[in-house]
Amino acid sequence: MIMEKAFSQTSEKISNYAIDTFKPEDSILKEVKDRSAKLNIPLIQVNNMDGLHLELLIRISKAKKIVEVGTLAGYSGICIARGIQNDGILHTIELEQKHADAAKESFQKAGVSHLIKQHVGPGIEMLKSIEKEGPFDAIFIDADKVSYPKYLTWAEDNLKVGGLIIGDNTFAWGNIYKENIEDPELNTKVIALREFNSRLANSSKFRSTILPTGEGLTVAIKVS
Ligand SMILES: C[S@@+](CC[C@H](N)C(=O)[O-])C[C@H]1O[C@@H](n2cnc3c(N)ncnc32)[C@H](O)[C@@H]1O
Repeated sequence: MIMEKAFSQTSEKISNYAIDTFKPEDSILKEVKDRSAKLNIPLIQVNNMDGLHLELLIRISKAKKIVEVGTLAGYSGICIARGIQNDGILHTIELEQKHADAAKESFQKAGVSHLIKQHVGPGIEMLKSIEKEGPFDAIFIDADKVSYPKYLTWAEDNLKVGGLIIGDNTFAWGNIYKENIEDPELNTKVIALREFNSRLANSSKFRSTILPTGEGLTVAIKVS
């Protein structure tokens, strides 16, 4: 039997070609990263092409009521906001006040503050607090990896039919298929990410895929 290699086209040169051609990052997004570095905020935002993918997915789906878990300094939030057409709202949730403050400045500089409502606190609690605003059109999950299955449970209950789930880092930094990972902390994250992917892949309520971006971007649409 010939096994197809799903992601055989991915290489540094291909990746550079994509970035050079589609130019995913403008001066506003670059400034978010520069300012984050100066503020000692970790540079763990979505990669530039995934930022563009987020904008496109939101545009294509015409999502208006969106949730993000994991704001950091607002890089992905700006991308999502750029995908919102006409009116809409992005509820973005962040645990660290310092990150939320940096994001507030980023949203102002990007001219998207009017589209964004920031929430500071633990993801699970903040999601509960916004439930009454639902049902939602899309959720982008990019916070603590161990909680991805809990965020998924929330999304199952609070997305409308036709709504989108997008999850970042779902290749678990190249470890998603590995058993017996020695580092217990990493192992816990990998197990949670595998549960997240597997539940979406096998649920009759969702049609799902994992986009072979460097980080792995799981995308699912609620079909029933
Ligand atoms: C990978 S970063 C998010 C990157 C952001 N989405 C972007 O691309 O610009 C993860 C963020 O989740 C936040 N975080 C971690 N645990 C959290 C939790 N339990 N609830 C809410 N946010 C959390 C971290 O402080 C960090 O800012």
